[in-house]
Amino acid sequence: SGTDMWGGRFSGGPSAILQAINASVDIDQRLAEQDIDGSLAHAAMLAACGIISSEDARGISAGLETIRADIRAGNFTWSPALEDVHMNIEAALKERIGAPAGRLHTARSRNDQVATDFRLWLRETCARMEDGLRAYQRALVTQAQAHADWVMPGFTHLQTAQPVSLGHHLLCWVEAAERDIGRFADARARLNESPLGAAALAGTAFPIDREMTAKTLGFDRPMANSLDAVSSRDFALEALSAATIAAVNLSRFAEEIVLWTSRRFGFAKLTDAFSTGSSIMPQKRNPDAAELVRAKPGRIAGALQGLIIVCKGLPLAYSKDMQEDKALVFTAFDDLELAIAAMAGMTADLSFNREAMEEAAGEAYSDATDLADYVVRELGLPFRDAHHIAGSVVKEAEARGVSLSELPLEVFQAIEPRVDEAVFNVLTARASMESRTSYGGTAPVRVREQCALWAERLAQE
Ligand code: ARG
Repeated sequence: SGTDMWGGRFSGGPSAILQAINASVDIDQRLAEQDIDGSLAHAAMLAACGIISSEDARGISAGLETIRADIRAGNFTWSPALEDVHMNIEAALKERIGAPAGRLHTARSRNDQVATDFRLWLRETCARMEDGLRAYQRALVTQAQAHADWVMPGFTHLQTAQPVSLGHHLLCWVEAAERDIGRFADARARLNESPLGAAALAGTAFPIDREMTAKTLGFDRPMANSLDAVSSRDFALEALSAATIAAVNLSRFAEEIVLWTSRRFGFAKLTDAFSTGSSIMPQKRNPDAAELVRAKPGRIAGALQGLIIVCKGLPLAYSKDMQEDKALVFTAFDDLELAIAAMAGMTADLSFNREAMEEAAGEAYSDATDLADYVVRELGLPFRDAHHIAGSVVKEAEARGVSLSELPLEVFQAIEPRVDEAVFNVLTARASMESRTSYGGTAPVRVREQCALWAERLAQE
C-alpha cells in the first residue's frame, strides 16, 4: 500500500483504480535481469565510494542474486501493489536481507534506474535483431548462390519488365537487411550511455562514481546531463524506427513469397513446414507466415507512432507518461524477432520452379529493350529512335499474337531494313539476363561475384 511504499507522507492506500492504471509490473518484469545488473553495479560503486559499507554491499549483492535465481526459476511472486519491477525487487530484497536493503536506493531514483534498465535491454535486443538478420542473410545468400543463373521476370509496376536472375533478386534483400543491421548497430551505439547516477533529475550530493557504474554495465560513458539521462526516450524511438524500417523491408519479400507461391505465378513452393491448410477447402496450401510478416509493419509502425505521440510535448524531466514506453517497445521487438525468424525459415524452405520462371521471363515482350539496344549497338541509331522502332515491332507482334522471336525477319525489316538474322540472338530471356554485365547488374557473372563477396563477409561475422 501507499503507506508501505511511500512511508511517512501517506496514511491511506491507493484506490483500486489508481493501482490498476499505475502498476506496470506485468510488463516491466521483463527488465528484471537488467534491473538486478544495474543494482549490483550501483551497490558496488556505493561501497567503493564509501557511501555504504562493504558488508552491506555484499549482503545486497548476495540477496539480489537469490532474487535473480528465483525469478529465473519462475519462483518469484510479482505484486501489482508494488507497482513496478524496481519496487518488487527492492521489497523482496528487504524481506530477504533486512535493513541493508534500504541503503541500495541511496543516490539513485527509479527515474535513472528505469532509463538504465531500458537502455541495457534495448542494447541487447538490437544486437539480437542483428544476429537474426544475419541468419536471414545467410539463408538468402545460400539460395542466391544456387540460383545465380536462373532467369525470372523482373517487374516494374508489377508488370513484366526485363528478365533478371533469381539470385540477383534474392541478393537485393540481402542488401536491404544489411542496412537494417546497420541501423540497429547505430541505434545501439548511440544509446550506449549510462543514465545511472542522474538520480531523480538533478544528480546527487553523494560522492558517487558514475564512470565506475557506466563501465561495469558496459556503457561507453555516463550521460553528461542528468535531466537528459532521465527524460530522453529518443533512444527507444530510434530503435523502433529501425524496427519499423526492417519490418517494412521484410514485408516486401513476404509479399513476393505470397505472390510467387500463388497458382497464378507458380514460381515457388513452400513445404508443409511453412504452409497451412484450409478448414473447408481440402486442396488449399496457404502462405500464412508470409502474410503475417506482411502484416507486421501495422503493429510495429503502430508502436513507433504510439511512442512518438507519448513523447511529443513532454516537458522535462521524468513524467509517468514514459512508463508507457515499454509495452510498445516490447511488443514491437517480439513481433520483429518472430518476423525475422519466419523470413529466414521461409527463405531456406522455398523451392523454385525453373521452367515457370523462365517461361514467364520471356513473356510480355520483356526482350523489347534488348531489341532497342541491338538497334543502337548494331545500326548506330540514337536510343530514342531505336525505342520507337522496337515499339513498332512489339505492336506488330501483339497484333499477330506472337512473341518477338516468333516474328519473321521480314517484319523487322519492313520497319527497319538493316535488321538482320543476328537480331534473334538477343531475343531470349536468358540472353537478355546474361547481357546485363554492368556493375550491379543481373548477369550471372556479376551475381556470382556478389554471392562470393557476401558469403565471405557472412563467414566472418
Ligand atoms: N515504472 C516507472 C517507469 O517505467 C519507473 C519510474 C517511476 N518513477 C517515478 N518517479 N514514478 O517509468
